[in-house]
Amino acid sequence: MINDDVLIIGSGIAALQLAVQLNKDMNVRILTKEQIRTANSYLAQGGIAAAVGANDHPAKHIVDTLEAGRFHNDHEVVQQVINAAPGLIRDMSQHGDFFDKNQHGELLLGMEGAHSEHRIVHGGGDATGKNVIEYLLDSLKANVTIAENNFAYELMLNPEKNRVHGVKAKTADGIIQHYYATHVIIATGGCGQLYSYTSNAETVSGDGIAMAYLADAEIVDMEFIQFHPTLLYIDGETKGLISEAVRGEGAILVTDDGIPIMEGVHPLKDLAPRHIVSQKIYEFLRNGEDIFLDIRKINDFTKRFPSIASLCEANGIRLAAGRIPVTPGSHFLMGGIKTDLIGRTTIDGLFAIGEASCTGLHGANRLASNSLLEGLYQGGELAKWLNNAQKEPHVPFRTDSSLPAKKAKVILPEIQQIKDLMMERVGIVRNEVNLKKQKAWLDQFMADEIKLDPYSFPDIEKVFMLITAKLITKAALERTESRGGHYRNDYPLENDDKWLRKSIIHQYDQGM
Ligand code: SIN
Repeated sequence: MINDDVLIIGSGIAALQLAVQLNKDMNVRILTKEQIRTANSYLAQGGIAAAVGANDHPAKHIVDTLEAGRFHNDHEVVQQVINAAPGLIRDMSQHGDFFDKNQHGELLLGMEGAHSEHRIVHGGGDATGKNVIEYLLDSLKANVTIAENNFAYELMLNPEKNRVHGVKAKTADGIIQHYYATHVIIATGGCGQLYSYTSNAETVSGDGIAMAYLADAEIVDMEFIQFHPTLLYIDGETKGLISEAVRGEGAILVTDDGIPIMEGVHPLKDLAPRHIVSQKIYEFLRNGEDIFLDIRKINDFTKRFPSIASLCEANGIRLAAGRIPVTPGSHFLMGGIKTDLIGRTTIDGLFAIGEASCTGLHGANRLASNSLLEGLYQGGELAKWLNNAQKEPHVPFRTDSSLPAKKAKVILPEIQQIKDLMMERVGIVRNEVNLKKQKAWLDQFMADEIKLDPYSFPDIEKVFMLITAKLITKAALERTESRGGHYRNDYPLENDDKWLRKSIIHQYDQGM
């Protein structure tokens, strides 16, 4: 029987930081749905936000975070994480040379949307995530086992104790494995793949959130989805992210005729908060106009952005022509499994970290490059907590899931249909008519009871996508205002009297 001290599901920055920082006498296992490097963190281009510049101060970074989050953030959480950022960068810099520096050995600091200072620490030009993940993978010790191609799909819990003891996982050829552990950590990322246009890795489709929801954990703020303004857009398909740091270096958004589109829209123009830029681009695309990033002002584009240059070239874009076609797409989920800053959920033994969790740091819209920061911080804090936690003896538990025997509807829609309908009805611009249509469409696939064992790997993924889509749609319907990543054209304004700092929480027990 497999029985570990700590079981981590997912392999992004939060997961690996945790695994690296845990004491060597703990048995740690990392389960991943595909390969260990298949995660959003690996793709992260921009960098890690930290107030380390000569004119900067964490107080300024805090104000920018709250402003971008439209004051829906948990202020205490914001202060703790942002104040810790310079120390985290200093600590990491002592362990390796993976951040870009000038000839004097000082960190080079990039600029991104809604930041009032240059404070984006980056590595390999635009390969920050890859650099940090490779460093963390190199730092793993012998106490950590990696089990790839294992799709965790059901939390095993003891209802009397409201405590999780492990997960069931399935391989692509249908073999079910039970993994027991004293502490189970969900670090599966957000749900970008619910949308037809996305910057996210192909595995990021809401699994951990749906699984926690079925175990009755509280899920919060699901209406807040960040749409990144600039994904490379070729023949009606998105091909990957064009970092906001490109606009930070001087690129501007223009129409086919070269007219700048962000003039007069917001004082920060092309570097306005992401929801404002995405909504503006969407308006043009809806009217049949293509939008481009004009990169002619950037000297030596290929040196500063090597990965983006390769992505463009691989997709037939001639950078010498000076423009890149773009469209907005889903990028980050501000909501998720409700946790405190250590990652504790509403169920004992179950933790969530990284994008799968919602600590309140990001509010209604995440400030650029605050997510790798959050992952590093949470992974480290949870490691400290687990290292100090008394080793708990295992209480007796059933070897079968405690979830009641459940039936699921057999006919599931095509994945592309889920993505297209989410993009159209629960995307950048929402309203009651479309949200109600989507809710009714999703309802036909929601069984009262769900038993996942007989399903294939791809069908479990589909069930999880439908559950996560339903959580987003319901929350978006309930929130009758616009705020950050949630924009409704039937309620276009923020309504502080009714909604300021109010969160929508969903729990399985209370019904889909
Ligand atoms: C980007 O490079 O534009 C993305 C960075 C982020 O989402 O934090």
